[in-house]
Amino acid sequence: MKIFLDSSNLYDIERFVSMRVIQGITTNQKILLKDKEAFEKVTGKPFKYDDVIRAIVERVPRGMPVSIEFSAVSTTDFLEKAIKYRELSEDIVVKVPMDSKWDWAHLVKALSERDIPTNITALMSVEQVLLANAAGAGYASLFYNRMKDYERETFDGKEEETTAYANSVVRRSYDEIKRPTQLIVGSLRNLKDVWEIVYAGTDIITIPPNILDQMCYHPKTEETIKEFDSIWEKLNK
Ligand code: E4P
Repeated sequence: MKIFLDSSNLYDIERFVSMRVIQGITTNQKILLKDKEAFEKVTGKPFKYDDVIRAIVERVPRGMPVSIEFSAVSTTDFLEKAIKYRELSEDIVVKVPMDSKWDWAHLVKALSERDIPTNITALMSVEQVLLANAAGAGYASLFYNRMKDYERETFDGKEEETTAYANSVVRRSYDEIKRPTQLIVGSLRNLKDVWEIVYAGTDIITIPPNILDQMCYHPKTEETIKEFDSIWEKLNK
């Protein structure tokens, strides 16, 4: 299972890339807004979409996929933007939003004819994952907590039920998906989500920086190291 970073924060991207713990980056409009101020501070430049994407690809090693997302008013507009942004780097993967009018499928076809890899995003069900897979997308992105929100809001599901449901969607998607399409699971809100998704199974888990930071910690690890350090002191007396 690969770990991607769900962020456009340049400081965090540099940090995790330099430690070699991530194998890809995912972004979206909401993430860009969250990191807008930090971008302007770090670069001294006003926010401009092209500049942010350029700054991200400059900070990752060649061959590391960077999924970008943008909005468009039509499929023609989307295609034009995708071609333009892809010129910034060969590592750019274009996120294509799932929709019920099949625009996404036309876009996947048009983009793959131009050798532009795609990541079908905002998937909330096994059915949608299967379709993204059938259309030949490079990645299919399942949104873990947003699936749970839907179950909670629509069926008044309790925490255990919504978790069991989302885990089963992740598991079935992982079992059913035919490679080379890879399953990405995102929309994580806490450390327990990581645990649940890892157990359910996926090709890739995309994790926000604050949760990735928490993954090093375990109380028993701290206790064990303390114990060993105090023994070391005794050993060397
Ligand atoms: C994944 O690719 C998405 O960028 C992300 O995980 C969505 O998460 P959210 O539900 O927190 O917006």
